Amino acid sequence: MQDRCFPVYPMNPVIRSLFLAAVFAARAFAADDSAQTLPREHLLMDAGWRFAFGHPSDPARDFDHATGYFSYFAKAGYGDGPAAATFDDRAWRQLDLPHDWAVEAPFDPKGSTSHGFKAIGRNFPERSIGWYRKTLAVPASDLGRRISVEFDGVFRDSVMWINGFYLGRQPSGYTSFRYDLTDYLNYGGDNVIVVRVDATMEEGWFYEGAGIYRHVWLVKTAPLHMPQWGTYVTTEVGEGAASVTARTTVANEGVEAATFDVEQSIEDPDGRVVATGGLHVLSLAAGAAGEFPCVLEVSQPRLWSLASPALHRLVTTIRAGGAIVDRYETALGIRTIRFDPDHGFFLNGRHVEIHGTNNHQDHAGVGIAVPDALQAFRVARLKEMGVNACRCSHNPPMPEFLDACDRLGLLVLDENRLMGPSPEQMGQLESMIRRDRNHPSVVLWSLGNEEWAIEGNIKGARITASMQAFAHRLDPTRRTTVANSGGWGGTSTVIDLVGYNYINQSNPDGQHAKFPNQPGVGTEEATTPGTRAIYFDDPPRARLAFQVTGDSGGNCEKGWKFYAGRPFLSGLFFWTGFDYRGEPMPYEWPEIEAQFGFLDACGFQKDTAYYLKSWWTDEPVLHLFPHWNWAGREGQQIDVVCFSNHEAVELLLNGVSLGKKDMPRNSHLEWKVAYASGALEARGYQGGTVVETTRVESTGAPAQLVLTPDRTAVNADGADVAVFTVSARDAHGRTVPTAANLVNFEVKGGRIIGVGNGDPGCHEPDRFVDDIARLQVDDWRGRIAPAGTGAPAAPEALQPFPRLGNWKAPLPTPGEVYDLSGALTLATVPAGVALELILPTFGVKTTVWLNGRELARDLDTSRAGPALRLDPAQLVAGVNRVQLIVTPFDDKKNHIPELTRLGALRVTTPAPPARRSLFNGLAQVLVQSTREPGEIRLTAGSDGLPPAEAIVTARPATPRAAVP
Ligand code: GAL
Repeated sequence: MQDRCFPVYPMNPVIRSLFLAAVFAARAFAADDSAQTLPREHLLMDAGWRFAFGHPSDPARDFDHATGYFSYFAKAGYGDGPAAATFDDRAWRQLDLPHDWAVEAPFDPKGSTSHGFKAIGRNFPERSIGWYRKTLAVPASDLGRRISVEFDGVFRDSVMWINGFYLGRQPSGYTSFRYDLTDYLNYGGDNVIVVRVDATMEEGWFYEGAGIYRHVWLVKTAPLHMPQWGTYVTTEVGEGAASVTARTTVANEGVEAATFDVEQSIEDPDGRVVATGGLHVLSLAAGAAGEFPCVLEVSQPRLWSLASPALHRLVTTIRAGGAIVDRYETALGIRTIRFDPDHGFFLNGRHVEIHGTNNHQDHAGVGIAVPDALQAFRVARLKEMGVNACRCSHNPPMPEFLDACDRLGLLVLDENRLMGPSPEQMGQLESMIRRDRNHPSVVLWSLGNEEWAIEGNIKGARITASMQAFAHRLDPTRRTTVANSGGWGGTSTVIDLVGYNYINQSNPDGQHAKFPNQPGVGTEEATTPGTRAIYFDDPPRARLAFQVTGDSGGNCEKGWKFYAGRPFLSGLFFWTGFDYRGEPMPYEWPEIEAQFGFLDACGFQKDTAYYLKSWWTDEPVLHLFPHWNWAGREGQQIDVVCFSNHEAVELLLNGVSLGKKDMPRNSHLEWKVAYASGALEARGYQGGTVVETTRVESTGAPAQLVLTPDRTAVNADGADVAVFTVSARDAHGRTVPTAANLVNFEVKGGRIIGVGNGDPGCHEPDRFVDDIARLQVDDWRGRIAPAGTGAPAAPEALQPFPRLGNWKAPLPTPGEVYDLSGALTLATVPAGVALELILPTFGVKTTVWLNGRELARDLDTSRAGPALRLDPAQLVAGVNRVQLIVTPFDDKKNHIPELTRLGALRVTTPAPPARRSLFNGLAQVLVQSTREPGEIRLTAGSDGLPPAEAIVTARPATPRAAVP
């Protein structure tokens, strides 16, 4: 088979003739490649960050950042405060990414409604700026390589520095971006990356979290390399074979022209090489970049489909001067997609009705800092209900969510955040498309959602046309949509595929008649909102019973029947799959979550999940609700509902039949039943025969707790996560649907990273982290003391430092010492906490006194100042005096630093033990592995109940390559 590979540019005639002679098919690569060290390193940079809150408007609480006479905008390398490389961050909290500081905050009615009343944002300036710092060693041997840092996403408005040099700003919290660090680095030394994150303002109207909540990567390559997202793979499927077009971008960031080969090989899901190809004797001038396409034929390919999401791997190798200079792997799925205006969506030529849900990116317990393993958990929960597609509302998702969709087989509508044609907005669209266009799961781009100012007018049509044309240039294989909400005649007139948000504000039949060549999809549709396992409204506790008339003007049955009856539409995405934090509806405080999900925020199924399962899967379904614990309501009429896909269902109460009813397609059955304790039973009939029975029984009080992990083993890589369900059973082992016990958790061999219970009115903490407070040492004074001074002078005898600017002390002559003093003022002496006194360095050797008592003598402070653990007994309420005698540096420079806010008492209050109340019988605990193989043992205890235990094996695993 002849593979067709051809460079696009640049090409001069000489190179072209060389190239034509060298295009080759199915070439066996040299066998000794494995012996070579590969020049590309892709290193996770999540571990070992320092974090502290700053302040949006008070420089004193923002570490005096940007107060210098020359700012970082004035002079290169002039980042000040924490942005300076020399800033002392040892008193800051240490943490690993991903991190969402919003989920760690308490709930407060003054918090933003959109963010689910977490105490961050405009009304909480002291919790809205987050500073992150990371020290990074770069070996001398890296000199000559290209080194960049890649952020998958930072919420939001991040400003970044390396070694005090300003790198840039990224306003959106959803855009993946990178900075080239090469020219700024200290090779053979330490480097400091600093990120200031401003989450004061929101981008959406839903919970968005705060902080560096996605992975960070350090990427090292040779000067001749494939840049970020440097491959673009498309597939065409023919009779018995597929053509895979691999477009590879190569950049020459070296100082000389380079000649090289690009080799491509495709491995099937079992790792067998099924196609090879490549290009020889290509050339790029110094500073140039080019795209080099290559078509590879794969015979009898295993197609990527929902039932069998077969993933192939493209391995791209760049070879120059006989050596491999870069190697890059791209996961790909061989598949075709098509949206038809009359017949809907086709995958690999077969009709697939889109059974989708919208989802935001947060999960109970962890907010938006969702570990990779939890993405797969969430995808699996959606698939269990028969969902085959997800709209990433209203922003590009984490890359690992798309990886999970590729692996598990879920279609994705990938959505851009903000519509607009400016370079910044187009840049965000470009970042999404370039990043995500190799994912086989992504079948459609959304340019935006409900843009009320433009969707119904000519500006909307123009903006949509510009963005759509740009999207087509970046990815000619996918169509675009915009989710419309009632403004017709603008966006909808030019868009490839109309997105209908809610049939109560759209007319798909009319649009189809008017634009017969335009396909359509329901981008949002009303579910049947409600609180899991709640059957009577209780607004003060934010509890909402199953709502037959959904808040957005419908219910899931109405919506599905509409779409199921219109084959010209491609299907729909219900609003939403999971409950999500923020946008509390239909109540306000104390409600902290939206209740539109078929699943609650933990992924526990609500009753409506079984409606979907009935009509979106082939599995037999017979689900009866409500529960049957209604003591006190004896004789009262209770609405009993059955979701099922059997032909008929009979209901019995305590063995007495209450009637058999035929199940209408895409519908449900209802009975009114006078409550009597005992058992409700549903019998599902097919062809007149009972094929399935289900019972709902009145239970006793909780007698035991049960812990159920989602998996029996996880990887001991410090990243994998086991999801434990906690439930309460009665003395007969029946799950108690009303249990609300407060449960305490303890884990050995792992760490609890979050807890949840799906209760939209619950204000218990999601996470349990140490609280770090910093109490500033101030009122610094000093003198130059004669050689041999062994004890500090009284502070009153010293000269105060001015508030800002250098202390203009004359430089000490050899032998003289600094005699310095600072004050630490405490309202009370903290108890039950860990205390550490962290001081700056003023010289090579330091002796420290606290309240007149010597703490440490002649510490070596040539690299860093003292860090001393304190006992509370060493402190007093009121003013504590820190005194230092310092042997100065011998370099004839004044080392009394610029600012007087020097030194702090770091007060660490240990995290309280993890705990959570059951909500309607259930809670969830997320446990992350450590790098220690063995057992992860979770225990749960609650007053009056015997403790429960569950064990998950942590099997040996190699952690991902990471920055040391
Ligand atoms: C839609 C909107 C969604 C969500 C939903 C709530 O209009 O696109 O983001 O706000 O309403 O009903």
